Amino acid sequence: MCGIVGIVGTEAAASRLVGSLKRLEYRGYDSAGVATLEGDEICRVRAEGRLAALADKLEKTSLKGTVGIGHTRWATHGAATEGNAHPHATDRVAVVHNGIIENFRPLREELVASGARFQSETDTEVVVHLIDRELQLGRDPVTAVERVLPRLEGAFSLAILFRGHDNLLIGARRGSPLAVGHGDGEMFLGSDAIALAPFTNRVTYLEDGDWVVLSHDDATIRDEAGQVIHRPQQLSQASALMVDKGNHRHFMAKEIHEQPEVVGHTLARYIDFTGETTKLPEDLPFDWTKLSRVVICACGTAYLAGLVAKYWFERYARLPVDIDIASEFRYREMPLDKGGLAIMISQSGETADTLAALRYCKGEGQTVASVVNVPESTIARESHVVFPTVAGPEIGVASTKAFTCQLTVLACLALAAGRARGVLSPDDEKTLVHALAEVPRLMAAALRVEPQIEALAKTLAKAPDALYLGRGTSYPLALEGALKLKEISYIHAEGYAAGELKHGPIALIDETMPVIVIAPHDQIFDKTVSNMQEVAARGGRIILITDAKGAEAATVDAAETIVMPSMPATVTPLVYALPIQLLAYHTAVFMGTDVDQPRNLAKSVTVE
Ligand code: AGP
Repeated sequence: MCGIVGIVGTEAAASRLVGSLKRLEYRGYDSAGVATLEGDEICRVRAEGRLAALADKLEKTSLKGTVGIGHTRWATHGAATEGNAHPHATDRVAVVHNGIIENFRPLREELVASGARFQSETDTEVVVHLIDRELQLGRDPVTAVERVLPRLEGAFSLAILFRGHDNLLIGARRGSPLAVGHGDGEMFLGSDAIALAPFTNRVTYLEDGDWVVLSHDDATIRDEAGQVIHRPQQLSQASALMVDKGNHRHFMAKEIHEQPEVVGHTLARYIDFTGETTKLPEDLPFDWTKLSRVVICACGTAYLAGLVAKYWFERYARLPVDIDIASEFRYREMPLDKGGLAIMISQSGETADTLAALRYCKGEGQTVASVVNVPESTIARESHVVFPTVAGPEIGVASTKAFTCQLTVLACLALAAGRARGVLSPDDEKTLVHALAEVPRLMAAALRVEPQIEALAKTLAKAPDALYLGRGTSYPLALEGALKLKEISYIHAEGYAAGELKHGPIALIDETMPVIVIAPHDQIFDKTVSNMQEVAARGGRIILITDAKGAEAATVDAAETIVMPSMPATVTPLVYALPIQLLAYHTAVFMGTDVDQPRNLAKSVTVE
């Protein structure tokens, strides 16, 4: 979950590297550093903490070299200190690394035994000393790297700089994303296209096992066997402008408010608004009518989108769904009938556990579909079919617009499956598609409760714990609300199925425990009212998120009631996501945590 960048350029590289790292900071921000070639020397500047600390240090140096590498870190091996910050280097070579070198311990022992002097606790440093040893033996940089790569085990991407070679940079990719940027008389490396956007939109995505030798005018890509191979050059959609906050205080606020727009964009991709039917690509590599079940795998918020989709596939397509978090699924050895369908859901398209689950499913003869927000991502490229969300880059570590766009795609898939399997009538499909088409307007209306939620957040911020309850498709929303609150405000929060309250969690209820109840007025509303009465009877403070009918029918005194617009039950998960996002956001803002880059987290978990 680190960000790496490299430049073989024609102007001073240091400030360009920092500018690019700013676009990668969402991938990790424990420490940062750059290395450039200054004459016949490798010069490094590193800093603990945020990128701003590195920028401050660079103000006081005079790095003028035009070739360099940079890194923003999410600590895996070794504490978040300057000594463990990348780049790691000897006099001859400097390296930045994203991922994990799994066999670093035996390599480190071997290197120490042969005289290498380590300066950090990181796994990365073994790469530096392995290459340095090859250079000391008189091998050229390309041969040195070619000999070292096969010795490394694990998932990683690398950018490597060599003393005395100001027209050379080498990159390597195995399991962690890496892209080449093609400039005019310059070449670039970056963890993703967003990092490269300030320099170029002409990018080449390396595949697993690829490594690339860059000079000012050339990018030669080789495979694991060292054979020169071709990878297509593409025009990236990411632009430098797409990653700014606009007039919002945080990326998360911007992305919450973008949801009516980007859900609309996503709907346009999967709905024929005139015919009021879903529209999927004609040549799908699977047949809905031949499926006996669907497997869904994801992590975190993406998993919770899948949990909502389970209800939709089972209700509207009569398709049973087996869903699991990818970190468990990948080791379960689940028996799968050949020819089944597995759906992977991932905003980044780089989550290691979800990618591993994808590869297991492919190995078991499943057709793999992915719902991703980065069409050029690894998960997308390894899927048989991709159903992209159209959320635009999501920079805030806490996922918001990607979640509702995932729900949008999954709802359309469930309806399309129902029609294809003949269990959803054209009229019913039309009604449901019409409800989906209303979602952008309903979301815009839902955002009007923000001032009420902002005021409410001040009391929630004082709570040591919080409990979220929901039934049906509001149950995954209860889990999502708890995840949002805990990951950005650091308040311990739990989501529970409302019906489970009396099986244990009710023991937690007292006047200090806010209970956020997500309950649109639907056919199970009365059941949830009973749960609220159980909470109220024990002094619990209820925050009820419902609609006008629910507010009227709730025969219990809620400390606060947040009223959503009325809407068909099918679309409540999409719209009720917004108040729970806003509640977490404003609580975190009130508490002064770093909303966009919460402690210990990173946007893309590309390691196990
Ligand atoms: C969401 O708020 C979290 N930051 C996290 O759970 C995230 O959803 C999870 O890591 C999955 O990421 P992905 O969608 O990129 O695969």
